[in-house]
Amino acid sequence: YEEQSLRPQTLKQYIGQEQVKSNLAIFIEAARQRQETLDHVLLYGPPGLGKTTLAAVIANEMGVQLRTTAGPAIERPGDLAAVLTALEPGDVLFIDEIHRLPRSIEEVLYPAMEDFCLDIVIGKGPSARSVRLDLPPFTLIGATTRAGSLSAPLRDRFGVLSRLEYYSEEQLREVVLRTAEIFHTDIDPAGAAEIARRSRGTPRIANRLLKRVRDYAQVRGNGVVTFELAEEALELLQVDRMGLDHIDHKLLKAIIERFRGGPVGVETIAASIGEEAGTIEDVYEPYLLQIGFLQRTPRGRIVSESVYHHFHMEVPVDERNR
Ligand code: ADE
Repeated sequence: YEEQSLRPQTLKQYIGQEQVKSNLAIFIEAARQRQETLDHVLLYGPPGLGKTTLAAVIANEMGVQLRTTAGPAIERPGDLAAVLTALEPGDVLFIDEIHRLPRSIEEVLYPAMEDFCLDIVIGKGPSARSVRLDLPPFTLIGATTRAGSLSAPLRDRFGVLSRLEYYSEEQLREVVLRTAEIFHTDIDPAGAAEIARRSRGTPRIANRLLKRVRDYAQVRGNGVVTFELAEEALELLQVDRMGLDHIDHKLLKAIIERFRGGPVGVETIAASIGEEAGTIEDVYEPYLLQIGFLQRTPRGRIVSESVYHHFHMEVPVDERNR
């Protein structure tokens, strides 16, 4: 028997993102047939949807090594030069949070992406000169939660732009069942469906909730993840029927109770609930926007009528007429 890894290894094992996968399958096969490297790929979308996993799958499908780093880890041009010169021909270099690369570093990346070379300046003052180093051909895979924060010249150097979407409940149910099998955990179809329903379209959340429900089922039940045990455990974890957690609640209730449902700016919301504006924008807002609980307007965020219903609150009269 073969130990299955939690992260899928192949496009076939990777659940969801059908459009992205079918495009990538073609580009990978074409590059392989020509014995070339795959063009640079930018993966963007909300956190937890599998950008890092997909980068590893791409490297595996190309039959090359994956080297991983992250935007904030590269502070000086030398840091990037060290990473690039360590690459072997064909390698995939994965840069997570690529929108956080300093602009001065981006400029080192351009010739590396375009011509597989590195221009470095040695020496200082009048004797300083530039040397050009050849790099092995490689594929850069960048991941970001905000494609809009990338500079246009950097974005333009990616040949493949793939946006990851939130998963459907059915796809998340498949992810939960697959993970349960890997954990050797018994799970009822209805138990898997309940975890999927409360996972905000996000496999990372689904897998985390499965782990906690499995703990609960082991201690309070007989180890089988049933619908009832899933419900109880998720209640205890303060994950509501829509998958919203206490921070989502705090955010939505702050807009309703302190700002009359909005419009209110994200900085104001952030200060009011003690979270960072960037975290609200990257982590909490995208799903609330997706399910229509929040709307973005030029004057700020507003909550929609469905939020009042969700909280069993009366819809204010001016909200109804908006
Ligand atoms: N585990 C987490 N995300 C997954 C995915 N998209 N496919 C398969 N397993 C996963």
